[in-house]
Amino acid sequence: MSEIHDPASVAHPTPRIDGEDKLTGRARYTTDWQVSGMLHGYPVPATIAHGVLGALELDEARAMPGVVDILHHRHFPRLKRSPNSMKHGDQVSEVRLPFEDERIYYHGQYIALVVAETFAQARAAALRVRARYRREHDVRPGLLASDAEGETVDHYSRGDPDSAFAAAAVTHDATYAIAPESHVPLEPHVTLAEWRDAEHLIVHESTQGVFYERNALARIFEMPAERVEVIAHYIGSGFGNKLFMWPHAVATAAAARLLGRPVKTVLPRQQDMMNGGHRPASRQRLRLAADRDGRLLAIRHDSTSETSLIDRHVDACGGATPSAYACDNVATVQRLLAVNHGTPCPMRAPGEVSGIFALECAMDELALALDMDPLALRRRNYADRDPQRDLPWSSKQLDVCLESAAARFGWAARDPRIGAMREGDEIIGYGMAAATWFAGRQHCQARVEIRADGTLLAACGTQDIGTGTYTIVAQAVAELTGVPVASIAVRLGETGLPAGPLSGGSMTTATVLPAVAAATRDALDALRDVAVGPGSHFAGHDPASLEVAQGALMAEGKRSGFAEILARHRLGSVSGQGSAAPGGERRQYSFRSFGAHFVEVRWDPGISRLRVARVVSSIDVGRAVNPLAARNQVEGAIVMGIGMGLLERLDYDPRDARLINANLADYRVPVHADMPDVDVELLDYPDFRFNEFGARGIGEIGLTGIAPAIANAVHHATGKRIRELPITIESLLDSH
Ligand code: MOS
Repeated sequence: MSEIHDPASVAHPTPRIDGEDKLTGRARYTTDWQVSGMLHGYPVPATIAHGVLGALELDEARAMPGVVDILHHRHFPRLKRSPNSMKHGDQVSEVRLPFEDERIYYHGQYIALVVAETFAQARAAALRVRARYRREHDVRPGLLASDAEGETVDHYSRGDPDSAFAAAAVTHDATYAIAPESHVPLEPHVTLAEWRDAEHLIVHESTQGVFYERNALARIFEMPAERVEVIAHYIGSGFGNKLFMWPHAVATAAAARLLGRPVKTVLPRQQDMMNGGHRPASRQRLRLAADRDGRLLAIRHDSTSETSLIDRHVDACGGATPSAYACDNVATVQRLLAVNHGTPCPMRAPGEVSGIFALECAMDELALALDMDPLALRRRNYADRDPQRDLPWSSKQLDVCLESAAARFGWAARDPRIGAMREGDEIIGYGMAAATWFAGRQHCQARVEIRADGTLLAACGTQDIGTGTYTIVAQAVAELTGVPVASIAVRLGETGLPAGPLSGGSMTTATVLPAVAAATRDALDALRDVAVGPGSHFAGHDPASLEVAQGALMAEGKRSGFAEILARHRLGSVSGQGSAAPGGERRQYSFRSFGAHFVEVRWDPGISRLRVARVVSSIDVGRAVNPLAARNQVEGAIVMGIGMGLLERLDYDPRDARLINANLADYRVPVHADMPDVDVELLDYPDFRFNEFGARGIGEIGLTGIAPAIANAVHHATGKRIRELPITIESLLDSH
């Protein structure tokens, strides 16, 4: 591994290479794809949350214009389930197959798929499907509407928390709750399935994992994986709900095979929100013990998250707690409660973002109890090495983040008295929280071609979910070849390309770029071999002696461009393969990213208006490969954090577990009017222990810490400690 210390393209702000295609509409998203003879599917959702499907009345729907067929539990092929293994690459979001039997587990569960000539015809007919149900009345409402604790699925402990609590001078004990949230990707779930010769299945899907979907489909349809191709060139974002396949894709592929025509199913927003995954609700009890100086003596973090009756998705809220602070006595417990909701799934910084809300609010409350500055309390308990694994960090600049963000924010000017800072009618609150997210890497392969037309092509099967993967791949190739980014084409998002990772866990950059670098070096070696051949500029040279600069090979003052070398030898291209995987470094170091958020809220009690006015963040992710896109990730995460903090909540009717706000009129997300002034700083401490680019990953960390910083600022302004997200105006109006 050769560390890239003085990069020419990496770490330079680089406009997206796919930006123009996206602006002009040339970039085709799955929803845009049209193939000849294509039919349209529209699922029919169940209108009860628990029971058994009885008679389906389909005559009226079948008679509607354009209707070709209606699939349901008595008219659907017998398929096999996917083994649902993360390790073996066939994990799915909902393991039950569509229309598998007559049981209904949640409101919205598909009971039929109407297939028609047009989307409008399919939708109109779907509205005419009538269903009878045998309703069962033991509906399990959401976690937040129940006292149930759930079953224990995981725990961690070190030291002796009980003794530490008994001996502590100061303790804190409170319960925090987070409402379920929707991912709300701009592009909803969509599948276009096409069979060739009834032997080959081609699926276009808006997915964060083309290989996972391919493998799962191969299991379900009992085909060799080589006969299934999954394509996702452009994705209208996915925040975890597109990691693993959902039943609409299976229903669509089955319909296409049955009818011998391509079928496309675009989930309407309501079904995307009911059936396409959400962040589950969680309830967390957080207990802290400290001495008078604010040194943490013990932490107990007990969490319960929801899952559905048919899947066991665990939102591991305590994941970040054992390594967050220097503390000898720590215990976490994770519980799971099954309810009659659609299956939840990972959502941006899953588990940890919820756990950090509880932990960072609790730290603020502890600071208050100690009469200590919340920032000073974080510093006092700074973990210089990973206390969970007892290993050094590869690189941890949280102290720099805290200091830099505090200075830019003006934290020193904070008057700690509640409600003491005012401007006009508004009361100003300052709050802060730390941010963290693990840094992981996976295995990846890539291919790079050097072409006679002077361009290069880099290819990897991984997909760009909108975060800028196309661009960073081009930057990596540019870095190693000296060819400008504009002359580098990138192909992603096809299972026919070299195997690449899920776009998830903030792992894509660190996973893909080392493989691309290896493939680039291999392609350059292929070119060197050509260049020393007879009749060439470099005949007789040792190929290893040829240096690369500015798209040319050089030796002893002679220089020959890549295209010139290929032309001289009448070659169209040379190509290289590469692969990369994490090595033994994980046994030597702990890898995490860090950050600090400082938030100013303004509360106008006269008109009951609460707004986030200002966010100042410093983020340490090693090196940001493309600071433009990286900053954009953090800014987007801050907006999402404002949604989590103040607005977003999936509302289920407590009587029948029906999701009642599954639309963008009733489910509130932040809009432009909610945008604060945002100041994001990306530190630049390359983490070469992680990979040669020094890059960890940036997709998720920005969301961690925003909601607690808001809650802490709200307390500073109003004196109200709101421990339930989202923080509503109503909760601030309650009497003291
Ligand atoms: Mo992320 S929740 O791994 O898309």
